Amino acid sequence: MKRDLTRKEFLKLSGAAAGAGLLASSGFGSLANAQTSDLLHRTIHSSGEMIPAVGLGTAETFGDLSQDFQMRRDTIETLFREGGTVIDTAPTYSKAEQVVGRALDELGARDKCFLATKTSTRGDKQVGIDQNTQSFIDLRTDKFDLLQVHNHRGTDMHIESINDLKADGKVRYVGLTHSNNSLNDAAVTVIESGRLDFMQVQYNMFDRSVEERVLPAARDNGVAMMINLPFARGRVFSATAGVEIPEWAKEFGVDSWGKFFLKYTIAHPDVTVAIPGTIHTHHVVDNIGALRGRLPTMIERARMVQFIEDL
Ligand SMILES: NC(=O)c1ccc[n+]([C@@H]2O[C@H](COP(=O)([O-])OP(=O)(O)OC[C@H]3O[C@@H](n4cnc5c(N)ncnc54)[C@H](OP(=O)(O)O)[C@@H]3O)[C@@H](O)[C@H]2O)c1
Repeated sequence: MKRDLTRKEFLKLSGAAAGAGLLASSGFGSLANAQTSDLLHRTIHSSGEMIPAVGLGTAETFGDLSQDFQMRRDTIETLFREGGTVIDTAPTYSKAEQVVGRALDELGARDKCFLATKTSTRGDKQVGIDQNTQSFIDLRTDKFDLLQVHNHRGTDMHIESINDLKADGKVRYVGLTHSNNSLNDAAVTVIESGRLDFMQVQYNMFDRSVEERVLPAARDNGVAMMINLPFARGRVFSATAGVEIPEWAKEFGVDSWGKFFLKYTIAHPDVTVAIPGTIHTHHVVDNIGALRGRLPTMIERARMVQFIEDL
């Protein structure tokens, strides 16, 4: 019943956007594709809230402070200045939660941020709850926008705990993540159980396996899709090193390989937000730039895949 109502609300909101001529032209005709200000936003189906369709991931080097904190703070400040809001982190990304928490605090930017973190443990339910408590401290916040079960570890028990936090007003959305396509079928089962607001998976030009079942299941069940590894951990850049961006890609606003790969991913109508990881301000500017201009059509996306496969 709840899903029916929220879907109706979503369609009403999307219809209003369509009526106002705000839909971006993805070539898929998706109602979830809306342009607010000059950046592409997408709708979280379970609430109707809209978020910019590119954010920031903080795995790998974000929590490694062998380089300085100021660099990470500048990266986060740049995200907000460019119009992004979504940050994804986890208690198991080294010191990333502490870095993000301190940066948000110093920038006075918690309210600008759609903050997503994870329950990331092989331990029992209480271990997960204790970890969440530490995440609130490290991220210097009393509320997570999104709390996700990391890599399907203890999915059922940790979803219960996340729902308890949601009932207390400390979490807004419930999620589940993986980046390993052998977990796609398990993800579909949880998506179809109706317990998720968000599912997070890998989707890039080198791994399109979620197109088969996960993305359609998310669409059918009103689950928002967060995309990790949009650059296949940087492999897309090594594959295109020294290669000229094709002239035809410039027709949909591509002037960098970062925009080429991000526009490919977010052009899928069932993608809500992609979270490329970086600690470099110029890469944040490039990545948020993928939200400007039109998206490739279905035909253009097929041409993009062919171009990369022919390299
Ligand atoms: N199971 C899970 O829940 C799971 C698994 C994996 C990842 N994640 C999430 O997904 C996020 C993204 O994954 P990821 O960071 O591992 O991989 P990724 O986003 O696919 O790729 C990151 C790489 O791309 C480079 N890069 C970023 N923007 C660029 C640009 N515009 N131009 C050129 N290079 C660029 C980065 O280098 P620079 O730092 O030099 O910019 C880095 O080497 C993670 O940070 C994490 O938040 C979740």
